[in-house]
Amino acid sequence: MAKKLTEKVAWVGKVDWELKRFHGDEYSVDKGSSYNSYLVRDEKTVLIDTVWQPFDKEFVARLKQEIDLKQIDYIVANHNEIDHSGALPELMREIPGTPIYCTATGEKIIRGHFHQDWNFVNVKTGDTLDIGQSKLVFVEAPMLHWPDSMMTYMTGENILFSNDAFGQHFATETLYNDTADQAELYEEAIKYYANILTPFSNFVTKKIQEVLALNLPVSMICPSHGVIWKENPAQIIEHYLKWADSYRENQITIVYDTMWESTRKMAEGIAEGINIADPTVKIKLINSAKTDKNDVITQIFRSKAVLVGSSTINNGILHSVSGLLEMIKGMKFKGKKGSAFGSYGWSGEGVKQITKFLDESGFDIVNDGQRLLWVPDEAAYASCVEYGKKFSEAL
Ligand code: FEO
Repeated sequence: MAKKLTEKVAWVGKVDWELKRFHGDEYSVDKGSSYNSYLVRDEKTVLIDTVWQPFDKEFVARLKQEIDLKQIDYIVANHNEIDHSGALPELMREIPGTPIYCTATGEKIIRGHFHQDWNFVNVKTGDTLDIGQSKLVFVEAPMLHWPDSMMTYMTGENILFSNDAFGQHFATETLYNDTADQAELYEEAIKYYANILTPFSNFVTKKIQEVLALNLPVSMICPSHGVIWKENPAQIIEHYLKWADSYRENQITIVYDTMWESTRKMAEGIAEGINIADPTVKIKLINSAKTDKNDVITQIFRSKAVLVGSSTINNGILHSVSGLLEMIKGMKFKGKKGSAFGSYGWSGEGVKQITKFLDESGFDIVNDGQRLLWVPDEAAYASCVEYGKKFSEAL
């Protein structure tokens, strides 16, 4: 069912309660998601974004219950990843000549996905579309998070249709931020930022400052996933400004994989040492082979320092750690410190390899790391505690 947001704007998207994986297997979803599409009715009628392809028929059928499709004057495609453009073919079969407003890059992406010669209208920052009493103002937002991304601001109603920015993979029935469980909402919002937007933090800061400089009143932020920020919408902007600014809490994450528990014992000793040196610091101890990778990235995002451990195997490191390091590299974290640790039986290259990877990923390396031969005895465990203390003191 469509949901009325204001006299002129209705939500016509799809809540996907069952979603578990997103971006292929790259993003784990714990609490569902939504693909938010909006129907704007002034003197002209505008559809902003569509939904993911598996829901295309349902989307179009429900849209028909709300409006005669021929009454849609314009379509705005803020961003054309398949979760927002996926229902375009089904919709355009019904209204093939309807103009699609998007960035020039957006047009290329739509053409590349669907190979259709639809009626594209390219827009740039500052371009406007008169729809009656209100106007739509377009703001390009390249790399937030794709090169085609843009936002659309509606005057009069003072709504920012921000697409992926300010979103969360979080299914709710009520749609609004103030009626959601706040702990769950912010857990999903920070996970979304940490895993999707961190690499583009410079763009986030610049774009928010650019939009704030326009002094536009914003009564609602309507993203393309999750809740609509209706109650104090500035709160999520303030969080984004913090998250984009080399975000770190007083937290240290120790993440490791272990073959025969020696590296696990090292991790526990190091955690004990950190806690002795600084009882105020939050410590997260995570086995990367047993923990969701996106949750690990979220904890690293929150941390001021990270210790990464692996047993050495076949002159290298365990695959859950190497996969995680590859993700860490892509995140382009800033302002974080790190070191490595791990047990070994004969060659023992793992610690050096992890240290090199962290260094190349922009971490400030605290020390050469800690290596232990075979299984830690009491003295070796004590050395891990000592290492943890020194690591903490060096931060
Ligand atoms: Fe929600 Fe970038 O698509």
